[in-house]
Amino acid sequence: MTAEDRQLRGAVLGLGMIGRHHARLLQTVPFARLVGAVDPGGDRFGAVRDSRLVLDDVAALLADDPPDFAVIAVPTEEHVRCARQLAPAGVHLLVEKPLASTAAEARELIDVCERAGIRAAVGHVERYNPALIGLRERMDEVGAPFLIATERVGPFPDRVRDVGVVKDLATHDLDLVRWLGGAPIASVAAQISHRTGREHEDLVLITGRLGSDVAFNSVVDWLTPAKRRISRVLGDRGMLVADTLTADLTLFRNGAVTSEWSAAQALKGVAEGDSTRFALARREPLLVELEAFCAWVRGDDTAPIVTLHEGLETVGHAEAVLAAARSGETVRP
Ligand SMILES: NC(=O)c1ccc[n+]([C@@H]2O[C@H](COP(=O)([O-])OP(=O)(O)OC[C@H]3O[C@@H](n4cnc5c(N)ncnc54)[C@H](O)[C@@H]3O)[C@@H](O)[C@H]2O)c1
Repeated sequence: MTAEDRQLRGAVLGLGMIGRHHARLLQTVPFARLVGAVDPGGDRFGAVRDSRLVLDDVAALLADDPPDFAVIAVPTEEHVRCARQLAPAGVHLLVEKPLASTAAEARELIDVCERAGIRAAVGHVERYNPALIGLRERMDEVGAPFLIATERVGPFPDRVRDVGVVKDLATHDLDLVRWLGGAPIASVAAQISHRTGREHEDLVLITGRLGSDVAFNSVVDWLTPAKRRISRVLGDRGMLVADTLTADLTLFRNGAVTSEWSAAQALKGVAEGDSTRFALARREPLLVELEAFCAWVRGDDTAPIVTLHEGLETVGHAEAVLAAARSGETVRP
């Protein structure tokens, strides 16, 4: 068997901000190789080395020898249309997050994939960030968690026109709080703002609770002049903080409260203890995601993929957040 036989044949749909990185990786990884890339706008970032692989439409990709899998990295509202074209041809699919722009479309996408009997997963890439993987592995260090807080703020990426910040960005947080907390989202309340005059919201504050009673909050916007990506878990023995921009993970332990001041001793509080910054192996999250997806396509059912049903749930939670913001009520998804 040659090295080429061992590689899955992959394609990328959409050579934009994220698709170009999928294309870059598929031209370098040992477990797969790029056999086609579809973008009606061409390869504007020069991501594909062999220009013969850049195609105008899906029909051209499926014409001769369809790829084993394709990464759908087109604007969110186009995901379901691409899945409808590819799944019936037996092409396995890695669909960028969020799975679709509405829960109804996400359900249709699942139906299309199930009927075709293909393997399909969602690219919630934060789950492959070394800082968050490390945080999840070390949850015991903080004792029983009672709060998960995330912050995902920064400037507006001009590319996003079809959805607002809740579906484009907060879907990362809605997926993460559930994944870190190990329990479903039970309720959400939210505030949104439209500061920049676009049709969709550009800021959201979410507060919610998991079924396990752990509270969570997420601050997400496209309005902050400095990019921040922080997730922290607070427990009764300390706090873990992951910075997914720098892939840093730090543990802050509670200290033992000792005070000679008797009034303060009567109060049961938290004191500052030791802190540890972990040395992590920093592998590129998108590469780890592709590796897991390809292993799963090859039949490794233990590979850590994000299922379409989890992707649907997250789109449903985003819709619950928007409904909560509109009504001012707490919503139980
Ligand atoms: N995982 C992440 O962190 C992450 C980051 C960015 C974007 N995304 C997701 O990836 C998707 C794409 O986002 P982006 O920022 O790369 O968008 P983008 O606008 O930069 O690129 C989209 C590309 O798709 C092309 N396109 C449009 N319709 C197409 C079709 N039918 N077939 C083939 N190509 C088509 C466009 O010409 C464009 O080049 C969105 O769903 C987004 O939410 C995920």
